[in-house]
Amino acid sequence: MSRLTAIAEANPWRRNPWFESVAEAQRRAKKKLPRSVYMALVAGSEQGVTIDDNTAAFAELGPKPHVIGAKAERDMATSVMGQPISMPVMISPTGVQAVTPDGEVDVARAAAARGTAMGLSSFASKPIEEVIAANPQTFFQVYWLGGKERVLERLERAKAAGAAGVILTTDWSFSMGRDWGSPSIPEKLDAKAMLTLAPEIVVRPRWAAQWARDVVVNKRFPDLTTPNLVAQGEMGPTFFGAYGEWMGTPPATWEDIAWVVENFDGPVMLKGITRIDDARRAVDAGVTAISVSNHGGNNLDGTPASIRCLAPIVDAVDGQVEVLLDGGIRRGSDVAKALALGARAGMIGRAYLWGLGANGQAGVENVLDILRSGLDSSLIGLSKSSISELCREDYVIPDDFMRRLGE
Ligand SMILES: Cc1cc2nc3c(=O)[nH]c(=O)nc-3n(C[C@H](O)[C@H](O)[C@H](O)COP(=O)(O)O)c2cc1C
Repeated sequence: MSRLTAIAEANPWRRNPWFESVAEAQRRAKKKLPRSVYMALVAGSEQGVTIDDNTAAFAELGPKPHVIGAKAERDMATSVMGQPISMPVMISPTGVQAVTPDGEVDVARAAAARGTAMGLSSFASKPIEEVIAANPQTFFQVYWLGGKERVLERLERAKAAGAAGVILTTDWSFSMGRDWGSPSIPEKLDAKAMLTLAPEIVVRPRWAAQWARDVVVNKRFPDLTTPNLVAQGEMGPTFFGAYGEWMGTPPATWEDIAWVVENFDGPVMLKGITRIDDARRAVDAGVTAISVSNHGGNNLDGTPASIRCLAPIVDAVDGQVEVLLDGGIRRGSDVAKALALGARAGMIGRAYLWGLGANGQAGVENVLDILRSGLDSSLIGLSKSSISELCREDYVIPDDFMRRLGE
C-alpha cells in the first residue's frame, strides 16, 4: 500500500461507501450522477401523484409487533416462476442507461451475489447474453414493439441465451409530460452531445472518471443504443429510435398475450396489472405470474398505489397465478407488508437504481442487504419463522386502504 493510500485509508472522515437506507443511496446517487442521468432515474409522469402514493401507502400499514415470541430461525427463501431465490425480492427491469459502464451487468452480478433473480429491460444497454453470463436467473422483459414477428425474434434470442422466463410489460401510455421537467437525453453521444452535457459532467468528476477508465481499460465508448431489440451482434437502434417505433406499433391485445405464452418455451409474467378484471384475463391467457404494478408511477398519473390494489387481485386470482408486486418498495418492512397482503415477492426499481448510482455493483448489493435485514426485522417483531406466515392480521389496515379496480 502506498503512503498516500495508507493516509487516505486511515482518514476517519473518509466517506464510508456503505449506506444504511435507500434514502441515503438516493442522496448519494444525486450527488454522484450528472443531473440528466439522475433525473432519468427519477422518471415518473405528470404531477407525480402515483409515485408519491406508491411509497406513502406503505406507511399507512402499521405492524402489530409482539414483545415475546421471536423465532431464532427465520426462512426467507422462495421462488418466482420456477427460479429459487434467497429472499422475496427481485430486480424489476428498468431501461436506464449510462449509470455505470457495466450497467445491467453490475446489477446482474449483485443480484447473483445475493441469490436473487433479475428482470432485464428491452431498453437495457447490455446484451442479454452478457447479463445471463453474470446471472443465469434472468427474465427478459418484452415490450410490444414492432409487432409479432419482431417480438418473436426477441423471444427466440432470449430463449437461446438461456433466459429463465419472459416479463411482458404492456402498461405504457406514452404519458411523458412532467411538472418537474424531463432530462435532456441525447440521441447519441457524439461530440455535439458531449459539449452540451459538459457543464453537468465536469461537476461530477467521480462519475466521469469511471467512464474515462472504462474507455482506456476496456476500449469501449459509451453509447445509447438498445442491443436486445435486434439480433445478437447487430447494432441496436438508439433509445429514441426504438421509442419512436414502439409508439407506431399497434398495441397488444389479449390474444397477443396468449400468443406470447404459446410461443415462448418457458414461464411468462404479465407486468402492470392494477385491475381485477385484467388479472382474471391474464389467468385466462395462460401466464404463470402477474405483477401488480403501475410502472413505478410512469404510466397514467393518479393510478392508485400498487400496494392498494394488491389484496383484491390476490383474492380474485385465488392462487391460479403467482402474484408479485412492484412500486414504492424502499424498505424490508415494505416487502413484509406486500407479502402479508398476498404477494409472493416484491420487485424493486428505483431502490436498486439508487444503489447502482451511489456505488455500482456494491451499492446494489447494499440495497438488497438493507431489504433483507429490514424484512428480517419484521419477521422478528411479528414472531414469524417464515415469510409464508406473514398475513393481513399482522397489520393495522385502514378501512379505506384497498382499491378494488375493475371488479
Ligand atoms: C427509470 C425507470 C425505467 C424503467 N424502465 C422499465 C422498463 O424498461 N421495462 C419495464 O417493464 N419497467 C420499467 N420500469 C418500471 C420498473 O420495472 C418498476 O415497475 C418500477 O420501477 C417499480 O417502482 P419503484 O421504482 O418505486 O420500485 C422503469 C422504472 C423506472 C423508474
